[in-house]
Parts: sequence; structure tokens; C-alpha cells
Amino acid sequence: MNLHSPYFYSYLHSNVINNLPIPVNVIRLFVFTSLLLQRNTDIPVCTDAVQTGMSMLRKTKYIMEFKDKIVLITGAASGIGRQTAIEFAKRGGTVIVSDVNEKGGAETVQLIENEGGKATFIKNNVADSSEVEQLIHTIVERYGSLDIAINNAGVGGGAARLADVSIEEWHDVMSINASGVFYCMKYELQQMMKQGSGNIVNIASVAGLRALPNSSPYVASKHAVVGLTKTAAKEYARKNIRINALCPVFTVTALFDPEKIEQGLPGLPDKLKAAIPMKRFAEVQEMTDAIIWLCSEKSSFVTGLALQVDGGMMA
Ligand SMILES: NC(=O)c1ccc[n+]([C@@H]2O[C@H](COP(=O)([O-])OP(=O)(O)OC[C@H]3O[C@@H](n4cnc5c(N)ncnc54)[C@H](O)[C@@H]3O)[C@@H](O)[C@H]2O)c1
Repeated sequence: MNLHSPYFYSYLHSNVINNLPIPVNVIRLFVFTSLLLQRNTDIPVCTDAVQTGMSMLRKTKYIMEFKDKIVLITGAASGIGRQTAIEFAKRGGTVIVSDVNEKGGAETVQLIENEGGKATFIKNNVADSSEVEQLIHTIVERYGSLDIAINNAGVGGGAARLADVSIEEWHDVMSINASGVFYCMKYELQQMMKQGSGNIVNIASVAGLRALPNSSPYVASKHAVVGLTKTAAKEYARKNIRINALCPVFTVTALFDPEKIEQGLPGLPDKLKAAIPMKRFAEVQEMTDAIIWLCSEKSSFVTGLALQVDGGMMA
């Protein structure tokens, strides 16, 4: 079907638009102006109308499903954590951006505030249990509750076969990725038990479900995250607290930068991509969308899940 034909518009209207829970006029305006712009036509288009239509659509799309929810995201100064913070704020959440990286954390807060969202930065090292205890205490003192926690802070570690991994490297990776998630869950759950509700998502990895040669500390730490998630999910299933893990495949961020990897190990990014059935790396937004779903009412009967978002790698 020709996308620019009037038949396409009428097909869209009768079969798709009428079934959407969005005001029809907003959709009409959006589709119509988009088609006009795509056609590069001479018909004058009022860009204000386009802007209004798009912003109405955006507002309608982002139902304020996390309005007044207090959301903690660790490691939110960059990558998956930053984008997740932005998405929660768009949906009405009050976001606590936490990270060891103050500059990046402040940038995330700025990005959220620029769009009219609510966020604050609290510096925190997840590998330090007393800092984590203090972080949860501060959040509850300031906001009165902790509704959602995304335990995302993590490091990749170096590349070496197990016998060549240094003791320091092992402890570094385990203390941030595994102990860090344990400390966060411990203090988050204490608060969630007091308030009688909560939702936790731990960011694991496909390396929490399978081997990834030359990354034994990372793999061990992410298997620990999956184990902690499943165990806690069962322990708190009857307490109105859901706990799930996300298991991303290679996602382009500072932690996994194919261009830098290519410089150090030519050909490796292509080999990694070849191992993914969909033959591409993931985008940050694809991880964030899954996290939002895990925290929404749409997944109300889901707990203890290690959700693979992996282009088919684990199939
Ligand atoms: N990018 C990928 O390919 C990929 C794949 C699977 C899983 N993951 C996981 O996703 C999570 C986010 O990674 P990303 O790809 O967005 O990387 P990223 O490097 O962009 O973000 C990680 C963030 O964690 C912060 N951090 C590191 N150590 C910390 C500590 N001790 N305390 C608090 N914050 C700390 C960093 O400052 C950074 O802002 C990590 O847990 C990572 O293991 C990433």
C-alpha cells in the first residue's frame, strides 16, 4: 500500500486510530502533518500545529503512571540508568539520581528538569554498605517513602582468562556489581516492608545466565544478581513487593562502546554481533522500556523474572 495515498490514511483511520485510547483529533493532526512533511510538499504546514499535535500526543502517550512515586536509580549518571531516570520522570515520578559520578549525575538531573520533570542527585557508592544505608535513610526522611528502586550501578571489569584475573579486579567487580545490589536490596526492602509495598528491578545481564569468556568476575557478579533477585522475589511475594531482574545483551553505552572495543580488539564487535540472532546491538531505550514495564501495573503478576532483552541470544 502506498503510504502517501489517501487510501492509507483512511485505512489507518478506520482500522487503527479508532481503536486507540488517544483522542482521535490528536492522532489525525499528527498523522496528517507527518505525511505532509514526509511528502516534502509545497502545501504550507503550520509548524506550530505540528508541534502542538506532537506535544499533545507525547503528553497523552506518557500517562502519568508513576505520578508521586519516589524512584531511586543507582548508576544514573550515564547509559541505561540515565535514560531510565528520564523515562520515569516523564511519567510523573520523582527521581533520585544516584551515582559516584557527580558531574554525570547533575547532567541527568538537568536533562530531566529541562523537560519539566522532578529529580535530585545524591552521590553514593553502592559498594559501601553504610553509604547505601544512609542513602535510603535520606530518601525516606526527605520524601517519606521509596516506591521503586532500580539497582543499576555496575562496572564491566577487564578482559582476561580466569587464572589471569587479579585478586583486586575480582573484589572490585564483585563489590560493586554483586555486594552493591545486595546492600541496596537489604535497605530498600527494610523500607518497603515498613510501607507495605514496593517494586525492585536489578540490572543483571545475559552474563548472569550464561558464560561470557574472559569476563569471569563480571559473569559471577551477574549470576549473583539473578540469584538474589529470584530468592528475594520468593521471600517477599506475599508482602506486596515485586522483585525482577533485567538481563540485557550488549547495549551501546560507556560500559560497552563498540568503537573503543574495535580499536583495542579489531573484529571483536562484529563477532559479538554475529552471536546475536537479530544481528545488532541493543539500544538503551530498549532496556528502559522493559524496566518501565516491569515497574508498571501491566506486569502486576510478574515477580522473580530474569527478563532477557537480547535479540534472541538466549533462545
Ligand atoms: N551496556 C551493556 O552492554 C550492558 C549489558 C548487560 C548489562 N549491563 C548492565 O547495565 C548496568 C548499566 O550499565 P551501562 O551500560 O548503562 O553502563 P554505564 O557505564 O553507562 O553506567 C554505569 C553507571 O554506574 C556508575 N557506577 C559505577 N560504579 C559505581 C558505584 N560503585 N556506585 C555507584 N555508581 C557506580 C557509573 O558511574 C555509571 O554512571 C550495569 O549494571 C551493567 O552491568 C550493561
